[in-house]
Amino acid sequence: MSGELQGKVAYVTGGSRGIGRASALAFAGAGADVALCHFNDGDQAKTVVAEIAAMGRRAFEMHADVANTAETKAFADAAEAALGPCDILLNNAGINIRQPFEELTEEVFDRVMDVHVKGMVFMARHVYPGMVARGGGRIINISSQLAIKGGANIVSYVTAKGAIWGFTRALAFEATKHNVLVNAIAPGPIETDLTASRGPEWRKWIEGTLLTGRLGKPEDIARTALLLAGPGGDYYVGAMLSPNGGDILY
Ligand code: NAI
Repeated sequence: MSGELQGKVAYVTGGSRGIGRASALAFAGAGADVALCHFNDGDQAKTVVAEIAAMGRRAFEMHADVANTAETKAFADAAEAALGPCDILLNNAGINIRQPFEELTEEVFDRVMDVHVKGMVFMARHVYPGMVARGGGRIINISSQLAIKGGANIVSYVTAKGAIWGFTRALAFEATKHNVLVNAIAPGPIETDLTASRGPEWRKWIEGTLLTGRLGKPEDIARTALLLAGPGGDYYVGAMLSPNGGDILY
């Protein structure tokens, strides 16, 4: 098999389903070997590993809570032992816990911030020195269009997604001279487990507001991840690309 990611190794956090799974498959389809971590989602992760193996690529999965720095270090070490050092990091794992602001608890705020912000920062921190030493790499952080747009009952989530945008731009200033390109993706509403819980009424409403008239599919985001991971991403630095179906124009 040949492809634009031939010979590359990609690590994907939250690769067991949704956007992470679609991106892992897109990377493998372009020739990369893929390591993925997940949160207690072993059955789906094993299915993704089998799908990648069927494409003729190597794959590895393990549980790792990205909010826990020791667990992401263990994932990075195990992935390197299994497949080799990281060329492409897709920082994707995420959760959303909805609460009106007057009910916001420290526990929920800390959890959402730790999964998104601490998780992405330290996952990058683990693989970055190796990328620098080997002369380059790609770090792609999944933010959200809500970082720009805002939204009710999601202060923790929007705060975290905004921080990811800041992290992306700050690291780009240090990393680009080492040929490590750092960018973000701000998806619009995508049909995954994360949005399924919103129910049919919400879906009808949001599809009515989208200029495309449809929710996105995980593959819509995977194609942007592939762009940033491959030669098409050579001149993107600290950018936040937003495939969002017309939810927000910026
Ligand atoms: P999903 O719920 O389908 O998948 C989430 C993935 O993250 C799973 O693989 C899960 O195991 C993993 N995960 C969750 N918590 C984790 C933790 N603590 N440690 C390790 N892995 C963990 O979600 P979806 O929709 O695919 O979301 C992926 C990313 O895209 C998230 O960062 C989300 O915030 C972002 N996003 C999603 C949008 C949507 O409409 N679905 C829109 C904008 C951004």
